[in-house]
Order: sequence, then C-alpha cells, then structure tokens
Amino acid sequence: MNILILGSGGREYSIGLAISKEIEEHNLFFMPGNGATDNLGTNINIKYYNDLALWAKENLIDLTIVGPEAPLVDGVVDIFKENGLTVFGPSRAASQLEGSKVYMKNILKKYNIPTAAFIETTNEKDAHDFIDTMTAPIVVKADGLCGGKGVIITQSKEEAKEAASDMLAGTSFGDAGTSIVVEEFLDGYELSIFAICDGENYKVLPAAQDHKRIGDGDTGPNTGGMGAYAPTPLVNDDIYKKVEERVIKPTLEGMKQEGAPFEGVLFIGVMVVNGEPIILEYNVRFGDPECEILMPLLETPVSELFYKGATKQLDKLDIKIKNEFGVAVVMASKNYPYGSSEPAEIIVDEIVDEDILENTHISYAGVEKDGDKLFATGGRVLLCVGFGTSIKEARDRAYALCGQVHFAGKKIRTDIAYQALK
Ligand SMILES: Nc1ncnc2c1ncn2[C@@H]1O[C@H](COP(=O)(O)OP(=O)(O)O)[C@@H](O)[C@H]1O
Ligand SMILES: [Mg+2]
Repeated sequence: MNILILGSGGREYSIGLAISKEIEEHNLFFMPGNGATDNLGTNINIKYYNDLALWAKENLIDLTIVGPEAPLVDGVVDIFKENGLTVFGPSRAASQLEGSKVYMKNILKKYNIPTAAFIETTNEKDAHDFIDTMTAPIVVKADGLCGGKGVIITQSKEEAKEAASDMLAGTSFGDAGTSIVVEEFLDGYELSIFAICDGENYKVLPAAQDHKRIGDGDTGPNTGGMGAYAPTPLVNDDIYKKVEERVIKPTLEGMKQEGAPFEGVLFIGVMVVNGEPIILEYNVRFGDPECEILMPLLETPVSELFYKGATKQLDKLDIKIKNEFGVAVVMASKNYPYGSSEPAEIIVDEIVDEDILENTHISYAGVEKDGDKLFATGGRVLLCVGFGTSIKEARDRAYALCGQVHFAGKKIRTDIAYQALK
C-alpha cells in the first residue's frame, strides 16, 4: 500500500518503523516527518489539508494515518473522506472528546461512564459555589487543548477559586479556558488504555504507563512524557473487563447516538481507585511515548490493523500481541521542558552486543538532518526502546542502549517502569 502518516514525532516514526518491518512492502510518506523518517520513506511538506488531500489522491495513497490531535480536531479526517480517501482517525465531531473537556465530561455523564464528580461552567460564581461544597485537593481544568498544561491540581478552596477565576477571565489559557471543568481529586494509580475503534467494533491494546514528570520519582514539572512501558502488571483481567463493559462499549454506543461514531484510537486515561477504573479523560490518538512500545509489541501488521479500522472491518480481525514487554526511555534535550536548546549532533555507537542489537531500537522524534549528520533540535529528541521476557529485562536493555547514544546535554529519567518493579 501507499501509506501517508501525518505528524513529526517519535509516535509517527514508530508507526512508520513498524510498517517498514512488515513482510508485505509498503511505500511510506510522512507529512511533515522528521530528520529520521525520511530513512523509512519520503517526507513531504504541504500546509493546507485540502491541498494535502489532492496530493494524496494524485499519489494514490491507500491509507492515511493521523498521529497528533491538532489535525484531527481541525477536521483533517472529514476533508480526506470528502475526497474519497481512506483515513484512520476520528472525525472533527468525534475529536471533540479530546478537543473539549466539557464535551467529554458531558458524554461520560450522559452515558453513565465512571468519572470524577464535576461541574462544567463558564460562570465564576457557579465555579466558586461548587468549590465551596468540595474538600481539597480540587482539580480545575481548562476546556480546550492546552498541550497538556491546562490542568491545575489545587490544595485549597482559595487556590481552586483563584485558578478557576484566572481561567475564566482568559488570563491563564486564553480562549481554551473560558469554559472550565471543576472536579474532585482521584487518588489512585494512572494507566493508559488504548482501543482501536472503527465506529462499531474495537480492539484493546495492552495497558501502558507513561511518566509525565521530568524528574525521577515523579518530581518536577510535567512534560509530554519521559518514558513508558507495557504491558503493565497493574492491570488484571478484571480491570480490562470493567473498562470494556463500563467504558468502551457505552462510549462507542453513545458516540453513535450523538451522530459522531468514533473511529480511530480511543486513548482512555484511567485512574484506578480501590480497584475500580475511573475515567480521567479521553484522547483521540495514541499517546507519545506509549505508541513507541505498542507498535513493536503488535504481531498483527500495523497497516492491516489501521486499514481495517478505517474501513469498518475490525470484526474480521483477530488481533495478536507479542508475548513480551517493552520499555521506552525518552532522551530529551538540555533545557527541556523549560525552553529550547542549541542543536546538538547525535552520535550512536556501533552496537556490538548481539543481545542489545536484537532487542532494542531507537525511535526518533525531535531530530533534523544536516548532510549525513543527525542533530537533536526538539525537546524530546529520541527514545531508546528495549524488549524482553520481563519488564526488568526490557528496561535493562533500553538503558544499555541509552548508554550508546550521545548528544550534548542529553537528559533521561533513570527510573522508567519503577511502579511495576517496586
Ligand atoms: N480528577 C483528577 N484527580 C487526580 N489527578 C488528576 C485528575 N484529573 C487530572 N489529573 C492529573 O492531571 C493530569 C492531566 O489531566 P488530564 O485530564 O489528563 O488533562 P491533559 O492531559 O489534557 O492535561 C492527569 O494525567 C492526572 O495525572
Ligand atoms: Mg492527559
């Protein structure tokens, strides 16, 4: 097939890498891709989605896969479908599950899906009155996309009121915060569960854990994610079953009733509280870094999974997952997540250890090419990914690879998967 992948991160690289390893040969195109995706295929740069759809038609693209949320919320899937193209991802309407936390919370409420008690409002007095009925910690969320920064966990009613007022006044998050959600704090452990959906049917992937904070032991500011592993032993069959019955099925059914059937990747942010899965939020695409371990753990060809997802044939697919564990360690640049860093040349040692060579790989993210040299130019630069028959073995291999990859100022967390190993 001719396959177009939208996005430029490690997530999109990992989708491309998995497809390039399939037995069947495919031609890969990335828009815009990064300094390493052009080793897997061809990078193209077309700014407007209408032009991109025309290009896809002219170039006989059989399948388009959308990585990040922004183009989905902007309606790229609708534009591609109007042009008769096959595309894997949710429509603009269905993407509101991620684009608007108010929409998402109202869907959860309407279809009785377990989530934190909340109100949504555009009104300061309503927010303050609700906060007066709560006990801290209290969570205040901006409605719109904030690049993972629109959630404030406050430790007192006063702090919560201030956060709510600032958001509503548009001072902290602009238009994204003129509508807010105030909700109770959930005390538990967090999981990412991904369901590949075709509007009607779904396939659940192994649960993963991300590591959002920059520092070991979950300290310091939030990031896009510093590492992930899967499958996590923190999930058992009981939790998977509850998530399917109480969350995925009613969501797919509900979205059909809303006239916005959900096709694409449903990313379920779960907090497990006393053994019960409670929904924190939905995203409408893969998590990054979770994608980088889930793609290589799939035995089913990734292109087949996404093609069947895009053409309502998931019921005809028997998904197979490798009996292995994966651990991904993000290598970030010096000033991440505070600011940008000077470009730094990336040097990867020749890897002689067969064990490392066979059971690890690099997934490239914030990199640019200059001649035959690769430079670290983004915040999250690359991921060292390791596999094994245990989490510990996979993690040891990922860290061994980290030791063989160099650039000035490289920064990693040293405790990825600690919750599974403690
Ligand atoms: N009700 C809550 N209770 C406890 N922690 C929460 C709650 N809501 C969000 N969080 C924490 O804040 C993080 C970000 O919130 P989330 O709703 O996922 O928004 P986003 O990813 O858009 O920033 C979550 O990953 C979780 O760690
Ligand atoms: Mg989140």
